[in-house]
Amino acid sequence: MNILTFDDEEKLNEAGANIIAGILQTKPRAVLGLATGGTPVGIYRQLVQGFQRGLFSFRQATTFNLDEYVGLPETHPESYHSYMRRHLFGHIDLPPEQAHIPDGNAADLEAECRRYDALIERAGQFDLQLLGLGHNGHIGFNEPSHALLRGTHIVDLAAETRRANARFFASPDEVPKRAITMGVGTILKAKMILLVVRGADKADIVRRALTGPIATDCPASLLQTHPHLVVLLDREAGRNLS
Ligand code: PGA
Repeated sequence: MNILTFDDEEKLNEAGANIIAGILQTKPRAVLGLATGGTPVGIYRQLVQGFQRGLFSFRQATTFNLDEYVGLPETHPESYHSYMRRHLFGHIDLPPEQAHIPDGNAADLEAECRRYDALIERAGQFDLQLLGLGHNGHIGFNEPSHALLRGTHIVDLAAETRRANARFFASPDEVPKRAITMGVGTILKAKMILLVVRGADKADIVRRALTGPIATDCPASLLQTHPHLVVLLDREAGRNLS
């Protein structure tokens, strides 16, 4: 595990964007696992700038997002479809048919999970999986539980997760109760995992995830088993690490 801690948020963003850019430069047909939430916004902004400067292209790449809310229209500004268009897809040359996000409005959600896993299987090993970290240790929407699932599945969002995400909605009640998420098996299969965490409010869970016991009540602790984990932290998120 390689942990890099930054005093400067823009340097952190640049480091994250450079890792992704480097993959696209050496392997234009890269398969990238992408994340949403507040954490990666600055990394996407830097990636868009690099793309606009002609440093790399997404034309041959394939992407898979980790998750999407169930029952939130894709056109809702807080759907992860909207988020990805706003922060990345709307500004780069990635062909829409190569950008995959699970469909949280599918009539048959179980069939949608199987469809998503089949697409992932066909694409082959992800070159990189970008991850944020939930306050409760979730990765994607794999919430703490007595057991974790390998493949894509439907989850009931933890109360803590809904509270944390309420900041993006007009009222806490508007936060969807369920989501569709990639499983931890898919996440751990990536060649490289890039975990990005910011803020003092995540300092405890960073310590628990990276140095505590490996247990399903902290899904991110499973990342300790990954042979190629890179962690980017701001100073506050890393302050409880010795
Ligand atoms: P955040 O979410 O980036 O909005 O803090 C991270 C997560 O819940 O995985």
